[in-house]
Amino acid sequence: MKSLENKVAIVTGAGSGIGKAVAFSFAAEGAKVVVSDINEEHGNAVVAEIVKNGGDAFFIKADTSKAVDNDNLVKQTVAHYGALHISVNNAGIGGEAAPTGEYPIESWEKVIGINLSGVFYGLRYQIPALLKSGGGSIINMASILGQVGTKFSPAYVAAKHGVVGLTKSAALEYADQKIRINSVGPGYIKTPLLEEHLSAEQMEGLVKLHPIGRLGEAQEIAELVLWLASDKASFVTGTYYAADGGYLAQ
Ligand SMILES: NC(=O)c1ccc[n+]([C@@H]2O[C@H](COP(=O)([O-])OP(=O)(O)OC[C@H]3O[C@@H](n4cnc5c(N)ncnc54)[C@H](O)[C@@H]3O)[C@@H](O)[C@H]2O)c1
Repeated sequence: MKSLENKVAIVTGAGSGIGKAVAFSFAAEGAKVVVSDINEEHGNAVVAEIVKNGGDAFFIKADTSKAVDNDNLVKQTVAHYGALHISVNNAGIGGEAAPTGEYPIESWEKVIGINLSGVFYGLRYQIPALLKSGGGSIINMASILGQVGTKFSPAYVAAKHGVVGLTKSAALEYADQKIRINSVGPGYIKTPLLEEHLSAEQMEGLVKLHPIGRLGEAQEIAELVLWLASDKASFVTGTYYAADGGYLAQ
């Protein structure tokens, strides 16, 4: 039997990069996948690919920085598939690069809105649905920058540290109600988030930060998320898992 057979999962930011790899992996393991993104075209393309490969998925547009969109996302998921067992709060952006003393206020608000408040709104509406379904697993996408700082990304670093803390607190609240909540911390991964904003030279500089000698692939993060989502991780809650090519070991 596949590891996510009969499970219903939401993946936010599933139109690209890590979220897309997670959506494909979940579908391949038998889950019914709600592919959610702010980008309708990309989200629908992911659904089409899953269905072409014999999987079960459908698209719901949601801007995770809006509480009401998170509420609707859960309501529509339950209306369509009858339950919710797994959610991956993955949608995120990088934001502007600037020193804290000059950081654009709009960029601070946007990054915190999507990368931190978006995860809270997700939990806020997913948890009641998971309780009704008899429990499940939530994975919040943090980063190595949820554990250590870096220059010129104050909003991103603050948001990702916030995601790690929020994950721990929520996990404690629901540990005895069959809901496991964990965060994942990728090192730098080759996705549009990096590739569309950095030069080849900057990408090469990032490679040097990883003892493993390369950047990660989205699928390498999806494998960890898949394990945390499945019953194989049945004793795992409230923790942070890095998949970072050795970045944090230095
Ligand atoms: N790529 C990396 O190096 C890296 C490293 C650590 C953590 N992460 C985290 O992984 C997650 C996914 O990143 P990625 O690299 O796959 O990025 P990506 O840009 O490839 O994909 C992100 C997706 O999120 C969607 N999105 C953006 N804002 C949204 C919103 N408000 N509501 C709903 N969807 C929205 C985008 O349309 C896009 O499809 C993010 O949380 C990111 O911070 C990425």
